[in-house]
Amino acid sequence: MKLFVDTGSIKDIEAVAALGILDGVTTNPSLLAKEPGDFRQNLKRICDIVKGPVSGEVTATDVAGMLRQGREIAKIDDHMVVKVPLTRDGIRACKTLSGEGIRVNVTLVFSAAQAILAAKAGATFVSPFVGRLDDIATNGMDLIREIVDIYDNYEFATEVLVASCRHPIHIVEAARMGADICTCPPAVIDQMFNHPLTSIGLEKFLADWEKSQAARV
Ligand code: E4P
Repeated sequence: MKLFVDTGSIKDIEAVAALGILDGVTTNPSLLAKEPGDFRQNLKRICDIVKGPVSGEVTATDVAGMLRQGREIAKIDDHMVVKVPLTRDGIRACKTLSGEGIRVNVTLVFSAAQAILAAKAGATFVSPFVGRLDDIATNGMDLIREIVDIYDNYEFATEVLVASCRHPIHIVEAARMGADICTCPPAVIDQMFNHPLTSIGLEKFLADWEKSQAARV
């Protein structure tokens, strides 16, 4: 399973990239709005750091505007993926941009029916938001299972990019279901490292080692 980080922060992306486990980045307008500077330059910088798929989202809501912005985003770097919302115009833009060889990530997906539309429009990635479904007392991971099953049935090439991950359990469940990618905030990637027995075990190993070395001098 591929692991993407969901942030527009260059500092955070550099830190996760330095771990050597990062496959890509997702951004959205809310995330990029928090960052200083020109968003195109920021996206270019992110592509240079990650050298994997980097999603940048259109803000137009009509198909003509999405196509114009999508083509501009795609020109930033070969690693750029154009993110469009799951609307009628978004699906039309996805079909056209995909036909031009531009990779598209269809975002704001909350149902299996929507995921079928994204696959049929040639999306490279579909982004179901599990955390936001959990927030409204609906099990987000049930949707991932449905989408993975449906895509398997028809061998759709669209990759399932599990978005809005809030904790490592989302990532583990997504991996067990065979989802292709999880994108999560840097803090959730940090949480993946943590286990109290690792810290306790390491502390004990080092203390025993120190003790034995001290006894030898
Ligand atoms: C994914 O592409 C989105 O940017 C993101 O995962 C949304 O997450 P949130 O629901 O935590 O804002």
